[in-house]
Amino acid sequence: MTSPLLTPLETNLISLTNRVVMAPMNRRRAVNGIPTESMITYYVQRADAGLITTDNTAISANSGAYLHTPGIYTSEQKLAWKKIVDAVHDRGGKIFIQLVHSGRVGHSAIQDGAPLVAPSAIRVSENIRLPDGTHRQMEMPIAIPTAEIPLWIEKFVQASANAMEAGFDGVEIHAAHGFLIDQFINPWSNSRTDRYGGSTENRIRFLVEVMQAVSAEIGRDKTGIRLSPFREIYDLKRYSQELATHQLIMDELQKLNILYVHFSNAMVDGRPTIPTEYLQDARKRFKNLIMIAGGFNIASAEKILSSGLVDLIAMGKLYISNPDLVERIKYDLPLASWDENTFYTEGDQGYIDYPKHHEI
Ligand SMILES: Cc1cc2nc3c(=O)[nH]c(=O)nc-3n(C[C@H](O)[C@H](O)[C@H](O)COP(=O)(O)O)c2cc1C
Repeated sequence: MTSPLLTPLETNLISLTNRVVMAPMNRRRAVNGIPTESMITYYVQRADAGLITTDNTAISANSGAYLHTPGIYTSEQKLAWKKIVDAVHDRGGKIFIQLVHSGRVGHSAIQDGAPLVAPSAIRVSENIRLPDGTHRQMEMPIAIPTAEIPLWIEKFVQASANAMEAGFDGVEIHAAHGFLIDQFINPWSNSRTDRYGGSTENRIRFLVEVMQAVSAEIGRDKTGIRLSPFREIYDLKRYSQELATHQLIMDELQKLNILYVHFSNAMVDGRPTIPTEYLQDARKRFKNLIMIAGGFNIASAEKILSSGLVDLIAMGKLYISNPDLVERIKYDLPLASWDENTFYTEGDQGYIDYPKHHEI
């Protein structure tokens, strides 16, 4: 029997050869923010995924959080990405770029001295590695003045336009994992008293305005979003209006009629952060594609796909260690395990040297 993961996806917005997505993973290999030749090899090796989503990619000098995060705000970065996109397309693959502004996560020493910006001047308690190898606490961010909010929306728009020029099939806006958009959503990082803070409508306003502006620029059929509801990360905690907030986000995304919503799940104490009831509710509110990632193996991915709750499954760590994941699913071949020690290290080891099954 053919795996449901290998069923093609045909909609009026997009066609994909299978339901297996390569999850966005910042492998921190873009030396000084510029995508490299090794990144071409890495993505080409994985081009038979139904869809690739890239490393989270910075929209400005102070957006990438970690050292060697790729960017797409200079023409050099854009041209380097174009080589990757062309190579993936030559292999018949499809590729979306994940765009991030990391907000208060980061340090000015990593980003050419540019200060951190955030909804409010509330500092993350965690440490981050600096270029000199030392670890320091993330700095106090500057609260973005109301009048400057359109500038940051414009950075998302410009980066999306750059992505189109580089030939990407679409853009995934990173609104998950405690980065800037998530910092606006969550009251633990947003104490604003203007129309971007306080009520549920106000806290999601930045997200909605970014999505409106990006989809107007590149087309709703090329625009996706990643969200991580109910997830505690970078000092963000659960809050009383969380369910209502995420329900309103789904309603607003439905109004914008964008291509997809991508949920980032995590397993905490053996339980998913995104419960089935929430997915059922999201499915009713949002009519286009729903993707989920986080803690799936082949069997559990097939199960949730067959249940009809989601349309696509994004695989993270399994895609690090199994470049030919689709082939392995097709022929029921054993899966290789990954080495965490090389997730974020520089160089090709643990990056482009995982063999395909027939090379073992
Ligand atoms: C090395 C590594 C880097 C990651 N970088 C990103 C990223 O840039 N953007 C993002 O949204 N998620 C990122 N993630 C999370 C993955 O997209 C995915 O949600 C997570 O690995 C859970 O899926 P899995 O159980 O299939 O690995 C990263 C995960 C790993 C392991």
